Amino acid sequence: MNLLPKVSMIRQLFRTKPIEQIRANTEEAGHGGLKRTLTAWDLALLGVGAIIGAGILSALGTGLAGGFDSTFGVTRPAAGPALIISFLMTALACGFTALCYAEFASMIPASGSAYTYTYATLGELMAWIIGWDLLLEYAVSNVAVAISWGSYMDNLLRGIGLHIPRWLSMDPRTMLFPTEAFAATHQGALHFSDKLQYLAQAKAGALDGAAVFTNWNALKTAPIVGGIPFGMNLLAMLITIAITALCIWGVKESVRANNIMVTVKVALLLLVIAIGAFYVKPENFHPFAPNGWKGIQAGAAIIFFAFIGFDAVSTTAEECKDPARDMPRGIIGSLIICTVIYVGVCAVVAGILPYSAYHGVADPIAHAFTAIGMNRMSAMVSVGAVVALGSALLVYQMAQPRIFMVMSRDGLLPPWFGKVSPRFRTPLNATLLTGVIVLLPAGFMNIDEIIELTNIGTLFAFILVCAGILVLRVKRPHAERRFRAPAVWITAPMGILFCLWLALGLPRHTWERFWIWLALGLLAYFLYSARHSRLRRPSET
Ligand code: ALA
Repeated sequence: MNLLPKVSMIRQLFRTKPIEQIRANTEEAGHGGLKRTLTAWDLALLGVGAIIGAGILSALGTGLAGGFDSTFGVTRPAAGPALIISFLMTALACGFTALCYAEFASMIPASGSAYTYTYATLGELMAWIIGWDLLLEYAVSNVAVAISWGSYMDNLLRGIGLHIPRWLSMDPRTMLFPTEAFAATHQGALHFSDKLQYLAQAKAGALDGAAVFTNWNALKTAPIVGGIPFGMNLLAMLITIAITALCIWGVKESVRANNIMVTVKVALLLLVIAIGAFYVKPENFHPFAPNGWKGIQAGAAIIFFAFIGFDAVSTTAEECKDPARDMPRGIIGSLIICTVIYVGVCAVVAGILPYSAYHGVADPIAHAFTAIGMNRMSAMVSVGAVVALGSALLVYQMAQPRIFMVMSRDGLLPPWFGKVSPRFRTPLNATLLTGVIVLLPAGFMNIDEIIELTNIGTLFAFILVCAGILVLRVKRPHAERRFRAPAVWITAPMGILFCLWLALGLPRHTWERFWIWLALGLLAYFLYSARHSRLRRPSET
C-alpha cells in the first residue's frame, strides 16, 4: 500500500504560513486596500470599547448571585462578594494572554489576530479551527451584547412612557423559562412540549401563570402561532442593523463614533464607583465567599465575558499607522484600564446590597441604585449602558469581517468574503454577512447560553495563542520581535493554565455544544478549505 499521499496530506494540514509571506500579503493588500489611520490611543480606546459591555453591565449579576438554567436543570453556584477575586483571577488569565497577543501583533502586524498567528505557528488546520472558533468570540458575543443593549434600551423607553409589548422584547425560549420553584417540583417543566401544555393551561386560567413562568408578563400577551408563543427581541435586531450600516460606511467614521462612546462609558463607570462607594455597607461582605472556590471559579467563568475584547484590537493591525510599536501599548493599556474599573464597580455593587439580591437581575448596577432609592442615578446608568453596549457592538462588528477577509485571502473561504468595497473601502460582503449572522440569534436566542458559548470559544483561542508563542520562540528564535513577552516560559504556560481553569468552570452542556461546533468546522474545512488553500498552490501566494 502506498502511504505517500496520506503522509503528504497530513503534512499539508500542519503546514505553516511563513511570517515573511504574511507580511508581504499584507503589504500587497495595503495598496488600494484598507486605510492606515489608527493611532496607539485609538487602539487603546478601541480595546476599552470592546471590553466594557454586557459582561460588567449584565453578567455581573449572575456572577454575584449565581443562577439557574431551567433548560438543563443546572444551578450555577454564587461567587458572592468574592467575585472580586474572580475578577482578579480572570484579569491575570487575560494579562498573561495579552502579553502573548502583544508579542504576536508586534511580529505579525496583519489582520486576522489569533487566526493569523496560529497559521504562522501551529499550521493550517489549527488556524482554520481558530478562525472558526473566533466566530464564537466576535459574532456570537455580539449577539449577547445586542440582547443586553435591547433590554437596557427597553428600560429607558419605559422610563419615558414608551411601552414596547413584552413579547417584542424577549425570545420565545426565555419567555418559557419556568420559575425555579416550579421546576424543582415538576421535572416536566424542563421539556419544551410540557411547557407548551402548562402554557395552554395557564392561558385557560387552570394554572397560575406567574407561579409557573418567570416571564408570564410577556407570555400572557404573546401571539400563539401553531401552539408556540411568538416572541422576538426587536430592539436587539434594530441596533444590529444600525451598527452594521455604520461599519460599512467606513472605519474612520466608526472609530470617531467609538471614541466618543468610550469616553462616555468610562466616565459613567467611574461615577458609579465614586457615588456608590458612599452607600457600601460592610455587612454585605459577609459571607464573603458563600460557595468557596467553586463559586469563585463559576463566577470567573461567567465574568470572563467582561474581559473579552482586548484581543480584538489586534484584528485592526492593517489599519494602524505603526502596528509594531502601538499594538502592545493598545492591547495591554486597555486591559489595565478595564481591570481597575471592574474591580471598583464589582466592590461597590457587591457592597450596596446583599449578593443574593442580584439573583436573576439583568441590569445589576441600575438595580443597586434603584433599590436604595436613587432613581435618577439608576436612569443615568441605563443611558450609559445603552452607549457602552453600542460601542462594544461596533468593535466586534468590525472585527469579524476582517477575520473573514483574511481567511478568504488565504483561500480558506471563497473570494466573495474578501471583497473590499471600492466606494467605502471596507469589507462589504463580510460585514453584511456578519450583520445577518448576529441579527437572527439576537432576535431569537437567550443571553446566558450565548455568553457561555462565547467564553468557551474564546478561551480555546487564548490557549492556542499562548501555545503558539512558545512554538515560535523555539522555531524562529531570531525573528524580529519589537515586543517580547517577559519571562515567556512562565507567562505563556500560566496563560494556558488560567484559561483552562476558567473553561472548567463552565457547565457541561456548554462543552458539548463547543465540541459540536468544532466538528462542524472540521467538516467545512475538509469539504472546502483544504481544497482551496492558497498555501497548497504556492505560485498564487
Ligand atoms: N467584553 C465584552 C462585553 O462585556 C464582550 O460585552
